[in-house]
Amino acid sequence: MGIVPNQRLTRPGSALEDVESLNSNGASSSGNIISNTKKRWYNLLPLVVALVVVTEIVFLGRLDMAKNAELVNSWADSFYQFTTSSWSRDAMVGRDGSGLGVLGGFDRSSSEGESCEEWLEREDSVVYARDFQKEPIFVSGGEQEWKSCAVGCKFGFDSNKKSDAAFGLPQLAGTASVLRSMESAQYYSENSVAMARRRGYKIVMTTSLSSDVPVGYFSWAEYDIMAPLEPKTESALAAAFISNCGARNFRLQALEALEKANIKIDSYGACHRNRNERVDKVQALKRYKFSLAFENSNEEDYVTEKFFQSLVAGSVPVVVGAPNIQEFAPSPGSILHIREIKDVDSVAKKMKYLDGNPEAYNQSVRWKFEGPSDSFKALVDMAAVHSSCRLCIYLATMIRENEEKSPGFPKRPCKCTRGLETVYHLYARERGTFEMESLFLRSRNLTMEALESAVLSKFISLKHVPIWKQERPDSIRGGDELRVHRIYPVGITQRQALYTFRFKGDSEFRSHIESNPCAKFEVIFV
Ligand SMILES: *[C@@H]1O[C@H](CO)[C@@H](O)[C@H](O)[C@H]1NC(C)=O
Ligand SMILES: *[C@@H]1O[C@H](CO)[C@@H](O)[C@H](O)[C@H]1NC(C)=O
Repeated sequence: MGIVPNQRLTRPGSALEDVESLNSNGASSSGNIISNTKKRWYNLLPLVVALVVVTEIVFLGRLDMAKNAELVNSWADSFYQFTTSSWSRDAMVGRDGSGLGVLGGFDRSSSEGESCEEWLEREDSVVYARDFQKEPIFVSGGEQEWKSCAVGCKFGFDSNKKSDAAFGLPQLAGTASVLRSMESAQYYSENSVAMARRRGYKIVMTTSLSSDVPVGYFSWAEYDIMAPLEPKTESALAAAFISNCGARNFRLQALEALEKANIKIDSYGACHRNRNERVDKVQALKRYKFSLAFENSNEEDYVTEKFFQSLVAGSVPVVVGAPNIQEFAPSPGSILHIREIKDVDSVAKKMKYLDGNPEAYNQSVRWKFEGPSDSFKALVDMAAVHSSCRLCIYLATMIRENEEKSPGFPKRPCKCTRGLETVYHLYARERGTFEMESLFLRSRNLTMEALESAVLSKFISLKHVPIWKQERPDSIRGGDELRVHRIYPVGITQRQALYTFRFKGDSEFRSHIESNPCAKFEVIFV
């Protein structure tokens, strides 16, 4: 009996085409809706049982149309308590759409009818103006180079098509300009996020995890990070592949200081070269206990293939480079860091100690047997989704957020109060995906623990398969269980998400939920 379309009627851009008599402006059409409701109600009357009449009266009751207003009001109050008057109208209109649903579902197993969760699911649902499957994100100036993306996403050149973003210097008004570079900002100062913004770039994609869409050197696909260890057969303790001898940090001095500290180093690069054969770098590194992963600049998050190749080879990286390199370590104690030139002596001492103590050395490569830390997996998993796809997700998320902030966007209740309890409607998606799933938290249990447990039960019920599943090496793919590593509000940087962001206790979490109706979260599973 589809007399009443099961959709919100006031929502512009929703299923209004089903209801020709309504105009698309929620506010001015409410009169129409009411008279429609009334007409339908009288049409239905002969067909329905008394209880349904009461159900319908509840909504009309607010318009003083019911004789037994007292009954209706008390019933309505115990049903939904709205905190603002604008929601009442929405709720009433919403009920119009669900009148028959209540009839059908009024099976007495729950004498209260529909739950807050069901009501919110329907009232908060939005049909956004743009369907990204039909009208994909279009980025001008790049090459399409990925397999699939959670949101419609196209790259290329098409002067007839309006692009959502374009690579290169800021030019077209209304098109977000994108800076993408994997070079260090110490060499190319325009790559610093702040500098790029000053120059008018809307979206910055660099190795910095604080950039909008980070592009790292790392990925499971690029490096066989879990490749097994091989015997350390070289007599030199460490291998070096350094060809630019004039880097802007102290890496050359560090190399010299290590040699001076009696660390025997085989150098295959141009600087201090003492091995002349041409070798496959990773194959060669496998034979050394240590690898000098010396970057050309010491910049946060600037960690290149030198480091990741050392991990593949199972050769303990001795790092000159990113001050936060420990965040890139596969497990605690698995790398050595020369922070400043004066650290060389203590690092040399540590290298000699590990050289003389096979068990201690074995501890530093233990992650090769037992798997890397969750923190490392969460970092590398980011790259399971191609940076171009992550750019599209970033753009599509911005487009939706702008729509939500626009004046024409319908007011959503986002919470539902019955008696002393409020149910909050939240949304969550896995990092690297786009569409959101609904979650509900109750006011008496508005805690981070409850959020995590709601996320888990939701995604388990959806039989969700983490986005990195096919990318990670077999040995660290895990079983079918889902584990949450981080949950954070959509919109913060990966640096914040992975390392620095935490709600300061449940009270801050609660106030976040209360001040962000229909709050959106992103989840990192490990
Ligand atoms: C290193 O440790 C792993 C277990 O963590 C063990 O399987 C392996 O035999 C050890 N190797 C040496 C040389 O001690
Ligand atoms: C609150 O949520 C946690 C985690 O889901 C759960 O273990 C606990 O029983 C809940 N407490 C109440 C009062 O519902």
